[in-house]
This record gives sequence, structure tokens and C-alpha cells, in this order.
Amino acid sequence: MNYRHAYHAGNFADVFKHVVLTRILVYLKRKETAFRVIDTHAGDGIYDLSAEAAEKTSEWRDGIGKVAAAEAPPDVRDLLEPYLAIVLPLLNADPPLYPGSPTFARRLLRSQDRMIFCDAQEEAIAVLMARSEFRRDRRIKGIAIDGFTALNAFVPPVERRGLVLIDPPFETKTEFVDLLAALTAATRKWPSGVYMAWFPIKDRGAANGFLDALRQAMKDAGVRSALRLELQVETPRPDAALVANGLVILNPPYPLAVEARTVLPYLARTMGTGRFGADIQRLLGD
Ligand SMILES: C[S@@+](CC[C@H](N)C(=O)[O-])C[C@H]1O[C@@H](n2cnc3c(N)ncnc32)[C@H](O)[C@@H]1O
Repeated sequence: MNYRHAYHAGNFADVFKHVVLTRILVYLKRKETAFRVIDTHAGDGIYDLSAEAAEKTSEWRDGIGKVAAAEAPPDVRDLLEPYLAIVLPLLNADPPLYPGSPTFARRLLRSQDRMIFCDAQEEAIAVLMARSEFRRDRRIKGIAIDGFTALNAFVPPVERRGLVLIDPPFETKTEFVDLLAALTAATRKWPSGVYMAWFPIKDRGAANGFLDALRQAMKDAGVRSALRLELQVETPRPDAALVANGLVILNPPYPLAVEARTVLPYLARTMGTGRFGADIQRLLGD
């Protein structure tokens, strides 16, 4: 495995994923009781957009570059605020930086909350945990391990509240199968957790097959509610670059569907060219 997120940091998929991540964390914080974030595919935590990898693809310019330059209407601006409050100071730094999922979690969590960050690449965890804001933080554990396997050992967390983020690179053909198996095993042990899993849409049939199998597995595990959020910035083609992606959210905070209907069409319009759009559907529950 040689996936490096540095090539893609801040692209349309990162913006989509991290905006939804911040909305979920905002809602988890509404109750005083502690919760845990388990990030199975954490990456490096912060990416240098002036480095060779990001410069080579320039993907961030069509992602966070466009969102940062746009003027959002007031209702969207309110929903983007927790995301942009973390992103903009880093983006405007010299060199410009873009935060990964561990940085959003770390900066939004409270003293009573805990975080576990996993990555299969030792180097990613070493880079993450070498950052002073992570190294000195006793709420954080960083582990170099296969995130799909590790998840089973980490659920349910002692807090019995929290979010599992599963964000695989989808470099191998087995990742839809691995994702389904990981979600099935974890929800059998902890059906009430909030789970957020990312998937690419290059082949609509493969994505639909995954979603159908997931709906059935989640019903069997006793999960009551699930959302499917999708965002595309151009028409997807199996042989072309990634232009469409989705998130499955199990046990979503109640307001998330309504918020997604406000913020996702805006993000699609702002980052899209050609046939862009957003789709928000319930997979389970009403
Ligand atoms: C898309 S990136 C994660 C980005 C990160 N979640 C974020 O939002 O900033 C995928 C990460 O998964 C890691 N990875 C690949 N296979 C893995 C596995 N089986 N278990 C855990 N991590 C894995 C890669 O090293 C890479 O850092």
C-alpha cells in the first residue's frame, strides 16, 4: 500500500467529508457527557499545500481553494463556521496548510472526550504523533494498525457515546467488502454508535451494491437510522479521476439531514463544473 493523502488533501472530497465531520462533532458536544472519536484511517493530520505532492495535483485549488474564496449565504455560513474556523487560519498560513480528520477532532473535542487514531502506515502515525499538539495531548492515542481490524477491539468505547470515522483510500478492490464487514461487526457490538464511512463513486453499480448490502446488514444489527449523503462535482466515469463520492452515516444526529440539504448543494455548486449535484437520502428510518 503506497497511498499518500498529501496528493489529495483539501480536494472536494476532503471538504465534503470534513464539513460533515464537524457538523456531527458539534452535535455530539451538545450533551455534557464524554464521548470518543475512533478514526480508523487517520492519515498525517495536517498537510502542506505548498509541498511537491499537493502542488503536483493541485486538487486543493478546486476544493478548499474555491470554498475559501466564495461568499456563502448566511444559512450556509452558519453551518460552515466550525469547519472554516479550523481551516482558514491554516490555509492562510505560510506555507498554506490543510487539516486532516485528526486535527478537526482534536480541535473540537473537550477535556472529557477521547480520541483514537489508527493508520496502517507507521509513517503516517509517526508524523501525526510527532506534531506537538498531538504528542502532548493525553486524550489521544495513535496506533499503527489495520483500522478495519482494530475497530472491532475498540467498540463499544467505555463512554458508550461517540463517532467512528472510516475513511479508506479505496486503492484495492476489496475495500467495499472490507468496509461492509467492519461496519457489520462493529454495529453488532455497538449498534447505537454514530458511524461515518466514506466511499468513492466511480462505478454507480458497485456503490449501489455496497449500499444495498449495508442497509440489510444494518437492519440485522439493529441500527435504526442511517443517511446516505452524496456529492458530485462532475459526471462520474469509471476510467477517469474521482469526481463523485458519498458518506454513509449510521445513527446520524437528528438535524444532519436538514443541514445537509442546505450545505451540500452549496458545496456542489461552489466546487462543481459541468454536472454537479448533491443527493441526501435516508437508508434506514424516517
Ligand atoms: C483517505 S486517507 C485518510 C484521510 C483522513 N481520514 C483525513 O480525513 O484527513 C486514507 C488513510 O488510510 C491509510 N490506510 C490504508 N489502508 C489502511 C488500513 N487497512 N487501515 C488503516 N489505515 C489504512 C492510509 O495510509 C491513509 O493515510
